[in-house]
Order: sequence, then structure tokens, then C-alpha cells
Amino acid sequence: MKYNTSNQQGMYSNGSNGYNGNNGYRNNKPGGFGGRINKTDDANFGSALQAVAWENHTLSDFKKDFYCPHTNVLNRPYPEVERYRESKDIMIKGIADAFLNPIQFFEEGNFPEYVASCIKKMGFDFPTAIQAQGWPIALSGKNMVGIAQTGSGKTLAYILPAVIHIRNQPRVQRGDGPIALVLAPTRELAQQIQTVASQFGGQCGQRSVAIFGGAPKGPQARDLERGVEIVIATPGRLIDFLTRGTINLRRCTYLVLDEADRMLDMGFEPQIRKIMHQIRPDRQVLMWSATWPKEVKALAEDFLQDYVQVNIGSLELAANHNIIQIVDVCEEGDKQSKLNTLLEEIGTQKLEKTIIFVETKKKVESIANGLKRVGWPAVCIHGDKSQNERDYVLRDFRRGKSLILVATDVAARGLDVEDVMYVINYDFPNSSEDYIHRIGRTGRSTASGTAYTFFTSANQKQARDLVAVLAEAKQSVSNELQAMTRFSGGGSGYARGGFRNGKFNKRTDNKFGGGSRFNAGFQRNSTMYGQKPSTFRRFD
Ligand SMILES: Nc1ncnc2c1ncn2[C@@H]1O[C@H](COP(=O)(O)OP(=O)(O)OP(=O)(O)O)[C@@H](O)[C@H]1O
Ligand SMILES: [Mg+2]
Repeated sequence: MKYNTSNQQGMYSNGSNGYNGNNGYRNNKPGGFGGRINKTDDANFGSALQAVAWENHTLSDFKKDFYCPHTNVLNRPYPEVERYRESKDIMIKGIADAFLNPIQFFEEGNFPEYVASCIKKMGFDFPTAIQAQGWPIALSGKNMVGIAQTGSGKTLAYILPAVIHIRNQPRVQRGDGPIALVLAPTRELAQQIQTVASQFGGQCGQRSVAIFGGAPKGPQARDLERGVEIVIATPGRLIDFLTRGTINLRRCTYLVLDEADRMLDMGFEPQIRKIMHQIRPDRQVLMWSATWPKEVKALAEDFLQDYVQVNIGSLELAANHNIIQIVDVCEEGDKQSKLNTLLEEIGTQKLEKTIIFVETKKKVESIANGLKRVGWPAVCIHGDKSQNERDYVLRDFRRGKSLILVATDVAARGLDVEDVMYVINYDFPNSSEDYIHRIGRTGRSTASGTAYTFFTSANQKQARDLVAVLAEAKQSVSNELQAMTRFSGGGSGYARGGFRNGKFNKRTDNKFGGGSRFNAGFQRNSTMYGQKPSTFRRFD
């Protein structure tokens, strides 16, 4: 064991074990945990969990640098390395060393057989840019921030090094906590990450479990008690288990924040801080997202200290370029009939998987019900549904049994559902970051997709950010949207530099051209999508 475990309880600052079993914990709330796990306004949430005074503990050394670069990688001439980085739009900040040259081919990873065979099974041709550049850093034990487009393989960028990190630690014994901890903002995302973790870690006998609210605690607790190497958790359930002593993080040396900007925003940050205090300070910390607003940077640095940052693509807010983005400036009252028309158009030949994002849970229900009434295969997901229902809805959507998913932002981040061809923003999201994540549910990996967005005068303050995102991705910007930037207040929640004066020229170089039927329909006028189809259906 790495720790001085002669008195594990003494590791905690208050002289007790810091866990108070069933006492005193959130007992002001009938039903306790298992309800809402994502955000909590409850100032007492997790208050029974004592921060560990790590300075009072002798921590034994642990190894976190396992990287042994392949000679091809190490000896690759600098201009060649730079050419690769340029072609993939890789920016690296913090260190420039041949040791961290990108791993351009899987064979150049020097990966152990249990990892190499798994990659082979997946059938991927090349590492994605974030994997190529992220792996050398993560495997060297460095703290890092990895920012790369939606759908670009960030999960594997942190799971693969996690598996190797774990393999190089003493075995997990019953009662030990996990070696790797991945924090994620939603239950569905935690489960999805666990699937990837079990694909990779399972090869060499590593056990993983997803712990998240809404599901019974018993089975999750039993998995934890048996001992697991990787835990993927939403913060609320993790704090619950930490407080009860169901899990401890004394052996945790590899910590991932997936969707890190979301995890560090106001909703989650206090919980993340509580969890961080349970983990030894010399842990390796890795943060990942497709968006990295300035506002979270300072906070992130609190947890990272020395770190290397990798950005793939623009340093500003940017969408995946495999997604056609179409924005319809319209009136609130027109949205329903526009949605009807749009679905008719995209479903004319064969309906493809489509996600419709809506602002409120109530509206999600009413839109989904309306669609079902007129025969669309629609299902819905939001935070007020039982976890059982959320699970089977998502399962059916993944399998293609239901082709339309109406959702709140609970489905905006990280979900990787094969063959989602369309995303429709019925309501524009509250933050421009969420726009990037929502539309990123299509165009995964090497696929492409289309995002439609209804944009009303109520969203005007976000016009400038949106125009910047469209321009960066070389998408068309309509005159109406362009005009709205004049009244745009410079961003919603997150202000960004670079696009302050709203002087974006209208781009006409949309790489998908006017050839797109929808695009053409859209551009004709703002009531768009062409003629009302004869099979026009109503649900309002
Ligand atoms: N090297 C690769 N080549 C091709 N596809 C890959 C590769 N690595 C991962 N993928 C696939 O790409 C898809 C997207 O991966 P993943 O969910 O990790 O993206 P992400 O970057 O985390 O996206 P998001 O920002 O939306 O969370 C997955 O289906 C995954 O299996
Ligand atoms: Mg992801």
C-alpha cells in the first residue's frame, strides 16, 4: 500500500473518520439522496464531509510517469512534428519537448498489449488529434487541460492513460477506494463513460462502476465494497457515498473532470471542491471539454497548479466543422409550425435520428406529446423523469427504436449516440457553450450532421457569440442574424474576447454551399423551408 494505513481513520482532520454514517447527513430532507444529483442549492449539501488535512499525513510515493516514447515519435524531425500539429490544428501550451511529440499512429504508442489489442478491436485507423497529443502528456503523469471539438474522442484520450496508470499501481484490495476517478455532469454520461472504461480496462481485469443518483444505491455500493479500479461518478451521489463511508478516495491518484467547464461552473463547483479535498494533493488531474470559457480558467488552475494545455482548433468558442449550422431568425409564436415543416422536410425520404432541444421540462413534455399525437416516433428526456424511464428512453433512441428525442440540456453534453443526423434547437440555450455541446450530438467521430436553430429577439444578446461561431466554422450568416449583433450585449453568461465589435462579414463560403435543400429553403426567406408540404402535420 502506498499509504501509511496504520491508522486510516487518523487521515482525516477531525480525528474521527470524517464520515458520520447515517447521522446528521442531509437529514433535513426527507428521502435524502437519490433525487436530484446535478445541481443543488442546498448550502448544507455534503457539509458533514470533512476536508482532509493532507499536510498532516505522510504520503508514500506513487508512480505517474509511464511514458516511454516510441523511437519514431522521439526522433521525428521537428518540422515534421510541426507539420502534423499544423495540419491537425494542435496548439500546446506549457511545455515544448520532443518527449511530448504527438503519437501519430497507434503503433507508435508503445502501448502494452492489453491496450493495443483493444484499440485493434475498435477498428480505428488513426488516433484523433486530441488523442495523439493528449496521450504523451497524460502518460507522463502531467496535469493537463484538453480542449477539442465535440465527438473527437476525448473519452479515450483520458481512459487509455487511466488504464495504464492503474496497471502500474499496487492491486486494489477490498475496502480500498478506486485509483482513477472520472467526474461527469450527468447520469447518462457517467454510464456511457463506464462502458468505454470497461471495454478498455476490462481487458486486463480492471473493474469499473458508474455511481450516479436516481438509481438504487445498493448495487452501486456493493460494487464499491468489492473494490473497483475506476469509478465514474456524478458529484452528488459521490459525495453521498463519501459521507457515508461507502467509498474513500485515499488511493485515488488519477482524477478526470470530463466536461470540465460545466463541472467548474456555479452549479457544481462547491461539490467539486469538496471532492477534491478528499484526494491527495499530488494526484494527477486531467480536465476535458469542447469549450473552455475564460471564467473557468482561474478556477481550474486552482486544482491544476502546473499543467499543460492542449487545444485542437480555435482558441475561441468553436463548433465541430463537420456540422452544417442553419439558424432561422423567427418569432416565438412561429416555432411550432416551423418545427412541423422542418420535420416534414428532413423526414421526407427516411426519418433519421434527431434531437430536439427545448428549454424547460414542461415544454419538452408538451412538444414530445404533440409530436407523438401526429405520429412522429418521439420520446423525451429531462430531469423530472425517473431514472428508469431516462435509461430506457435513451436505450431506445440509441437502438433507433425511437428516432426523435426531445430533451432539455440534460442530453446536451458528452452523449455519443451513433447516427444522430440532426439537432434542432427549438429554444436557444442559455449559454453559447451549450449551443456548441448541443449541436455536437451530431457529427460524431468521422460523421457529419446538421443543426437547425430557431433564434428569436429574446436571444438577441447571444447573437454576437453565435455569429462568431458560425463565421469560425465558415457557415452562412443571414442578414437578419447579422443585424441582431448590433444590439447584442457581448455574450450570455460567458463573455469572450475577439468578437467584441461584431464586425463579422457575411460569409458565403459555407462549405456545404447552397446545395443543401434545407439550406436553400432557409435562405429564401425567413419563413423558410420552402413550400408547406402536402402532408403537413399539426400538433398545436
Ligand atoms: N481514434 C478514433 N478514430 C475514430 N473514432 C474514434 C476514435 N477515438 C474515438 N472514436 C469514436 O468517436 C466517438 C466520439 O468520441 P467521444 O464520445 O470520446 O467524443 P468527445 O470528444 O468526448 O465528445 P464530446 O465533447 O461530445 O463529449 C465515439 O463513438 C468513439 O468511439
Ligand atoms: Mg466526451
